[in-house]
Amino acid sequence: MLPEDFIFQLKQANPIESIMGRYVELKRSGNLLKCCCPFHSEKTPSCMVYTNIQDSHFYCFGCHVGGDVITFLMKIEGVTYIEAVEMLAENAGMTVPRDDHERRKAQQRMRIFELNRAAAGYYYQQLLGADKRGLYYLAERGLKPETIKKYGLGFAGDGWDGLFKAMQKLGFSEQELLDANLCSRSSRTGGIYDRFRNRVIFPIFDLRGSVIAFGGRTIDKDGEPKYLNSSDTPVYKKGDTLFSLNFAKKSQSKRLILAEGYLDVITINQAGFDNVVASLGTALTPSQCRLMRQYCEEVVISYDSDNAGQTSAKKAVNLLHSVGITTKILRMEGAKDPDEYIKKYGASRFRLLLEEADDAVSFQIEQCKVGLDVNNVSEKNTVLQKITAVLADISNELEREVYISKVAKEYEVSIEAIRAQVDKELRKRENIRKKTNWRSLSTQVQMRDPVNPDANAHRREAKAEELLLCYLFRNPDALKDVLRQITADNFVTELNRRVFTCFCDAIQNGSSFSLSIFSEQFSTGEMGHITGILAVHNDIAISEKAVADCIQLLKQYQPEQTSAEDISDEEWAAALKRKNSGKL
Ligand code: UTP
Ligand code: MN
Repeated sequence: MLPEDFIFQLKQANPIESIMGRYVELKRSGNLLKCCCPFHSEKTPSCMVYTNIQDSHFYCFGCHVGGDVITFLMKIEGVTYIEAVEMLAENAGMTVPRDDHERRKAQQRMRIFELNRAAAGYYYQQLLGADKRGLYYLAERGLKPETIKKYGLGFAGDGWDGLFKAMQKLGFSEQELLDANLCSRSSRTGGIYDRFRNRVIFPIFDLRGSVIAFGGRTIDKDGEPKYLNSSDTPVYKKGDTLFSLNFAKKSQSKRLILAEGYLDVITINQAGFDNVVASLGTALTPSQCRLMRQYCEEVVISYDSDNAGQTSAKKAVNLLHSVGITTKILRMEGAKDPDEYIKKYGASRFRLLLEEADDAVSFQIEQCKVGLDVNNVSEKNTVLQKITAVLADISNELEREVYISKVAKEYEVSIEAIRAQVDKELRKRENIRKKTNWRSLSTQVQMRDPVNPDANAHRREAKAEELLLCYLFRNPDALKDVLRQITADNFVTELNRRVFTCFCDAIQNGSSFSLSIFSEQFSTGEMGHITGILAVHNDIAISEKAVADCIQLLKQYQPEQTSAEDISDEEWAAALKRKNSGKL
């Protein structure tokens, strides 16, 4: 465990607003700072940054993430506690006194980074080695030598242990090769073998330029699977990574091109567009969208032209919009993907395609008629109904009018008729919205708390515990007095009990209160809960009477004794009957 004093100094040297300010735009509002939460998608700020209480922290009222500056860094960088501390220490020119366990974990990650770099080097050497199949393959795919070098592409040949042996020679252990997902253990023989064989290799880099994972494409015509990828490792989380963002982030462009595959990205990049990334074989994730938001305002979705590609494109549009990115969708004819298109028609035609890319609305309107015959009256009606729904989705009225007149012209219907339909649709939606709003308000009251599951069945007790904890956080000196009346055993919910115990240990050991007394023992989810205890009551004075009531409530709490065995057969039968008749 790190000394309290060190953490205190570390936080003094790294004010939360200056660290958070690097990732989000902080706006002052009274004596606190606000921002759009970087951990969930939103357009209006619900993340508060408190800099003026004894201990600065952030809390998002939307997704209940919160904590101190260390928790923030852990979440946003996806690093461990000790790594976050390291980063802050480095920022402030301090040295971390570390313990064994954490040192080992950080060490493991360091080793995987080193191993990945060595492996990428090995694969590159293999590409240039005696077995030229990889090089021929890449050349045949139209890649230039400088592109191969830029992306650090490589080749894994025929052998079962080429990489394994080479890495062992460099001092890497079996376990490290397994941890990095470069080798697997055979369940039959127990032996270790290389995962990538007869494949060209695409290293995946993080934003700092470290190799974090690999993808390998088979060079055999019917090789299966076509692409083999690293699974998640201690240094790699697929859904948080975008291929080629290490290059695209340096682009001057305010937009990014989003493609599906490794070779699409590389070909597009080679054709002179440095602002291209791919989400790599997974459906686009919200976290990848937020990552893009940091580097662009607009995304041109350049997925495959087949049905699957276009369906994913539609999904991507919605996800990207929810983080505030505008989208365009590229439509290619005569080629199945950007790679093929550029090869067939050249870079300048691809640039034209980019310029002509439909905005998402036009694209959606176009999609409405797919599979329907607009010369048939009833089918044309269906198309127009579908279009009405798309038009109603447009929130900007002016923009909506523009599209209404476009559609009116294309389908030879009066503008008024379409507008009337859209208005009807909007009214219908408004009614639904009012109803669901009401429903979600009433369900919110009974919302489940996943971090502190005990609270679901013990709402009153959990509230009392949290009010009491908040009071103690603000008045640690009152602990002695409180302990005369109540102990940890009186806490009903497990999480709050642990928080109380940890708090008592720290204060009784002479520490002063700060959220960092928790950040080492509690998960980031739990830190959100703890920070919430402070944040939710931030503006409320807690009276001594209220504290006494909380203590009283907890002391009077009697766990329910009834268990299934105690219920009589008759009661069961009655309950079951009610359940089956739908009354329960
Ligand atoms: P595609 O099947 O569209 O391949 O998969 P591609 O990129 O056009 O590949 P080439 O041109 O035939 O070489 C798109 C992406 O989906 C992932 C890869 O990231 C691929 O680039 N993928 C595909 C896999 O991860 N595994 C697979 O087996 C196939
Ligand atoms: Mn392709």
